[in-house]
Amino acid sequence: MQLFIDTANIDEIREAASWGVISGVTTNPSLIAKEKRDFKTVVKEISEIVDGPISAEVLSDTAEDMIPEALDLAKIADNIVIKIPMTREGLKAVKVLTKEGIKTNVTLVFSATQGLMAALAGATYVSPFIGRLDDISTDGMELVADLVTVIENYGLNTKVIAASVRHPMHVLQAAKVSAHIATVPFKVLEAMLNHPLTDAGIKRFKDDWAKVQKELGK
Ligand code: G3P
Repeated sequence: MQLFIDTANIDEIREAASWGVISGVTTNPSLIAKEKRDFKTVVKEISEIVDGPISAEVLSDTAEDMIPEALDLAKIADNIVIKIPMTREGLKAVKVLTKEGIKTNVTLVFSATQGLMAALAGATYVSPFIGRLDDISTDGMELVADLVTVIENYGLNTKVIAASVRHPMHVLQAAKVSAHIATVPFKVLEAMLNHPLTDAGIKRFKDDWAKVQKELGK
């Protein structure tokens, strides 16, 4: 399984990238808006930090408008992936962009049939939103598992990104159902990394060491 970071914050991306665990970045208009900076500048900076796929989302509603918007974003760097919402117009755009050799990430996927259609249209990635389904008392992880099964049953060339991840257990469960990727907010990455017993263990080692050094008069 690969981990992507789900943020548009440069400091968070730089920090997580330094840990050596990040293979890509996903953004969305809400995440970019939070940074209060120019969209293309932010995407360009991200593409210079992380080598892997960087998802940047279109805001247009029609395929006719999404396609030029996507082509413009794709020019920012070689590793840009165009995030397209899962709509009828989105599918049309994915079909055209795929033919042009542009990678796409179909987002806001809330059912396995939506995901199947995105994969058939040629999407490089599909992003089922786990947390937002859990929020409405629906099992988001079941959707991830269904999508992985459907894609693997037919050898479709699309990767499932478990998205809208809210806590470390989402990542573990996504890994158990063989999601190809989980895109994870920085706070959740930190929560995955930390453990109170690790901190307590380091403290005990240091205390034991210091005590003996003192006894030896060092
Ligand atoms: O990866 C999708 C993500 O950015 C949405 O997360 O927490 O707003 O549902 P959330």
